[in-house]
Amino acid sequence: MNLSKKYDPTLFKNHPNYEKIQACQSLLELKNILYADKNLEIAKKVKNLVFSDGDEKASLMIIGEAPGKNEDESGTPFCGKAGNLLNEFLAKVNFEREKNIYITNVVNWRPEDNRPPFDDEIEYCLPYLEKHIALKMPKMILALGATSGKALLMQKKIVLNDLRKKNIVYKNYFSRQEIPLIITFHPAYIVRRTDLKNDFLDDLKFMEQQFRHVLKKVHECV
Ligand code: URA
Repeated sequence: MNLSKKYDPTLFKNHPNYEKIQACQSLLELKNILYADKNLEIAKKVKNLVFSDGDEKASLMIIGEAPGKNEDESGTPFCGKAGNLLNEFLAKVNFEREKNIYITNVVNWRPEDNRPPFDDEIEYCLPYLEKHIALKMPKMILALGATSGKALLMQKKIVLNDLRKKNIVYKNYFSRQEIPLIITFHPAYIVRRTDLKNDFLDDLKFMEQQFRHVLKKVHECV
């Protein structure tokens, strides 16, 4: 399924840190650029920048929406209720935070009162996210929730249910690398909608299947 955005090389040119982001060579350097960036109001108010967690060498990159209270206090993504549920379900398909997952968010600062990030905040964070993916070079991306799916596909609107259990082709803005993308529910939604737990698990099983496929192909190519 090819939903990848039409490439516009001028898209991020007006971002105040565009040159720095473009020239950035490592995840640590990107984290430091984000740390120093106080252009968004939310960046001025937070306790911590929430950059990433897990194994930098992992082939699976998971992308959520934005940090909540627990994440802001600790500086670690997905460490509250939604994170615990996510860990529990990922373990059922043999994924573990320290072992084979790298996890981040579309927005790296907590929007106050746990509100969803505004569109202009997401837009501002997009070049950072694109560079984060370009540096990380995952073999597969799992997007959690519509905000993450929309940001990666650069679409104003998506219907999450139509995109579940689909192999989507995501193309990175900076590297132009194509990466398989799977989109599922946000785990915070599953915390509230316990009736959807089986659907969430089905999606993760689908992702794991596709993931094994991708790794097999990579092995065949070397
Ligand atoms: N929800 C998210 O999208 N990200 C987190 O890190 C925590 C909760």
